[in-house]
Amino acid sequence: MGSMSAVAVAVFCAFAMHASFLVTNAQLSPTFYNETCPTLSDIVFSVVSNASLTDPRIGASLVRLHFHDCFVQGCDGSVLLNSTDTILSEQDALPNANSLRGLDVVNNIKTEVENSCPQTVSCADILAIAAEVGSVLGGGPSWEVPLGRRDSLNASQALANTNLPAPFFTIDQLTASFAAQGLNTTDLVTLSGAHTFGRARCSTFLNRLYNFNNSEPDPTLNPTYLAVLREICPEDATVDNITGLDLTTPDQFDNAYYSNLQQLNGLLQSDQELFSTPGAVTVDLVNSFSSDQSVFFDNFIVSMIKMGNIGVLTGTDGEIRTQCNFVNEDLSAILAGVASKDPNENLLAQSK
Ligand code: HEM
Ligand SMILES: *[C@@H]1O[C@H](CO)[C@@H](O)[C@H](O)[C@H]1NC(C)=O
Ligand SMILES: *[C@@H]1O[C@H](CO)[C@@H](O)[C@H](O)[C@H]1NC(C)=O
Ligand SMILES: *[C@@H]1O[C@H](CO)[C@@H](O)[C@H](O)[C@H]1NC(C)=O
Ligand SMILES: *[C@@H]1O[C@H](CO)[C@@H](O)[C@H](O)[C@H]1NC(C)=O
Ligand SMILES: *[C@@H]1O[C@H](CO)[C@@H](O)[C@H](O)[C@H]1NC(C)=O
Ligand SMILES: *[C@@H]1O[C@H](CO)[C@@H](O)[C@H](O)[C@H]1NC(C)=O
Ligand SMILES: *[C@@H]1O[C@H](CO)[C@@H](O)[C@H](O)[C@H]1NC(C)=O
Repeated sequence: MGSMSAVAVAVFCAFAMHASFLVTNAQLSPTFYNETCPTLSDIVFSVVSNASLTDPRIGASLVRLHFHDCFVQGCDGSVLLNSTDTILSEQDALPNANSLRGLDVVNNIKTEVENSCPQTVSCADILAIAAEVGSVLGGGPSWEVPLGRRDSLNASQALANTNLPAPFFTIDQLTASFAAQGLNTTDLVTLSGAHTFGRARCSTFLNRLYNFNNSEPDPTLNPTYLAVLREICPEDATVDNITGLDLTTPDQFDNAYYSNLQQLNGLLQSDQELFSTPGAVTVDLVNSFSSDQSVFFDNFIVSMIKMGNIGVLTGTDGEIRTQCNFVNEDLSAILAGVASKDPNENLLAQSK
């Protein structure tokens, strides 16, 4: 019986994993709010495009916010939760602190959405739609965003620290980080292409400019670009400057990211690894995306939808938050004055 049941368990597990993956996909649908919030995508588009007039970087910041949500206990809006008596915010984890942007814009979207369709649309879905709008505003692809996610009741600062890949990761570490989320090497190369727009702080690549290896810079960094970056990021700077992730077209969502890599003009080590690791399977993909933008765009849509399915809460799991920065129970307690939240905040102003 022992060996029989081991086989049975193995077969069952293989089936269960496969089945739950299919169910997860089937539960999200682009028409989820068709009846309950038909103006949803128009609202998101208008708030984000308005914000982009004064903040051209906002589209990139919103794409990153969705990624940082999905890699930490799934696409459940956990990244949006502020610290309270019971929540240790993911926003203070190392990969997020001082670099996450767009939280205020998400709150503006949520306020508008609550006005039109109260207590209907999750913050996790708002992040997924805002990411698609961010791509479109940059000139990138558009797609029908599968919807129906619900919001988490907690957050994990610990998982934000361990699951989000670091800019100094090697190809093996990047591959493992994505595999842990059910994403493969094609998804890794494709989604890294989101670095076709947006900015990064000097501190995320400074190690490549000075003393990478025995007082030498990273040999896979183009010497001309190295000189430019040393100007922007002096070794002894007291201010953490920012610069474009894409040297050639910093605000355009296009495939220049991949041709930059071919010329050793990737900004982060994690970017350049995709092209400069000898024998890596990622090199062929970089070459293919560089030579045909439509191949990159088609892959980007597939991988974004795949990422957007990670660990989603559906049905009656989780909740629909009223205010994206707090779970409903904490929000009620805060408004009743019996719980604390982190200082310098404007919750009352935002929930009017
Ligand atoms: C492959 C592993 C990845 C690593 C190591 C990585 C790392 C980083 C780092 C260090 C920054 C700069 C943040 C700062 O200044 O501190 C950044 C920015 C950004 N990342 Fe990634 N990232 C990765 C994958 C992704 C993915 C999968 C997406 C989305 C699909 C993404 C989208 C972005 C965007 C759009 C920005 C610019 C954000 C802005 O300007 O506000 N990244 N990333
Ligand atoms: C949902 O709305 C979209 C856009 O208005 C429309 O194209 C689609 O047919 C609708 N689908 C359903 C199932 O109602
Ligand atoms: C448009 O953007 C401006 C500047 O960011 C902001 O003050 C204003 O509230 C926004 N309006 C709408 C309708 O979102
Ligand atoms: C968050 O809630 C989920 C579901 O109840 C649970 O599995 C997970 O361990 C919780 N995470 C933290 C950090 O409390
Ligand atoms: C580090 O630099 C030395 C020469 O100074 C070189 O022999 C070695 O291959 C370099 N190592 C790496 C990992 O680049
Ligand atoms: C920031 O970058 C600019 C160039 O973009 C450079 O002139 C300036 O010196 C840098 N500031 C610091 C504090 O490094
Ligand atoms: C990787 O995932 C993509 C979808 O994102 C899929 O088309 C492809 O077949 C997968 N590749 C492998 C080797 O599993
Ligand atoms: C949530 O925390 C951020 C800082 O991480 C702060 O700027 C924001 O005002 C807080 N939101 C609310 C609604 O208190």
